[in-house]
Amino acid sequence: MAEKYKNMVSKKHYLHSGIFNQTLRDWQSLKSQVLPINLMYPVFIIENDDEVQTISSMPGVCRYGINKLKDHLTVVVQKGLTSILVFGVIETLSKDEHGTNADSARNPVIRALPKLREWFPDLTIACDVCLCPYTSHGHCGILNPNGTIDNPSSIKRIAEVALAYAKAGAHIVAPSDMMDGRIGAIKSLLIEHNLQNSVSLLSYSCKFASNFYGPFRDAARSKPSFGDRKCYQLPIAGEGVALRAAARDVEEGADMLMVKPIMAYMDVLKQVKDRYPEYPVFVYQVSGEYTMIYNAAEKGVFQLKPALMEILQSYRRAGADVIITYYTPLILDWLQLKH
Ligand code: PBG
Ligand code: ZN
Repeated sequence: MAEKYKNMVSKKHYLHSGIFNQTLRDWQSLKSQVLPINLMYPVFIIENDDEVQTISSMPGVCRYGINKLKDHLTVVVQKGLTSILVFGVIETLSKDEHGTNADSARNPVIRALPKLREWFPDLTIACDVCLCPYTSHGHCGILNPNGTIDNPSSIKRIAEVALAYAKAGAHIVAPSDMMDGRIGAIKSLLIEHNLQNSVSLLSYSCKFASNFYGPFRDAARSKPSFGDRKCYQLPIAGEGVALRAAARDVEEGADMLMVKPIMAYMDVLKQVKDRYPEYPVFVYQVSGEYTMIYNAAEKGVFQLKPALMEILQSYRRAGADVIITYYTPLILDWLQLKH
């Protein structure tokens, strides 16, 4: 007898009336929509211009020489790609204590930037700025003889590298090294070189010493040869120090902020966006997250498309403006099919 349940719902608490078709449901979710503008695609550029390398730790992701990257990106740009994040990977160029090849004339990123600007005039190009793919020890900064970080030398060098990428054509420089004071150092150098109106600074402000970077370090050949990154990347449970990092980077002149990884750090994202609503906040779905989702779908835990869209919308709902994801080409395919 359902009669007695008839008046259990007060008038304004009928929710079904607001969600009974797809358009109504979309209206309930507009702020969490995922559009092409919300996606940034990370790409790895190698020395040999005509080579493509698969990456065993990241199924479906490749490293490209610039000529091959041109073909690959041409297709993705046609699907609506608006921005990329570029990483350089070296194999035959030498690595040393100062990361000399981070900004040498033979660096694949330095060589690629003018071409990418010419081939893809509407594509916004961000460059990851770090020393780890170029240092002999694989750490993100310059080290003291006892193995600790030499912070002043590190930020001087990192600012130089950022300037070199900016001069070569990057619209955005994105330091991922987590040295103290790097945002201020880079911003000052950009201003000194009169680039303050044409180059944007995206800080990896809340980057944690995560377990989810493993496949990337393989992809970028940037694994530290000893120790770990815990003395400069943030402690995984360190909410307070992460919020201080965001505050500091805002103070030092960052144009945009980031939380990385994202899946285990959505509380941090929410707080950063709440505190700095006037700053675009990026989240990085990192290599381990990419591979974990890929493998789960392969094993039949869920279907990739609906599960990934659920995950991406949750990042948007928690406050992410832009999602950096290796899935970008696939997501753009799905978004095209929608229309
Ligand atoms: C290097 C860097 C890392 C990532 C981006 N830049 C790895 C690290 O800090 O060891 C991670 C990206 C990913 O895992 O997808 N500074
Ligand atoms: Zn690094």
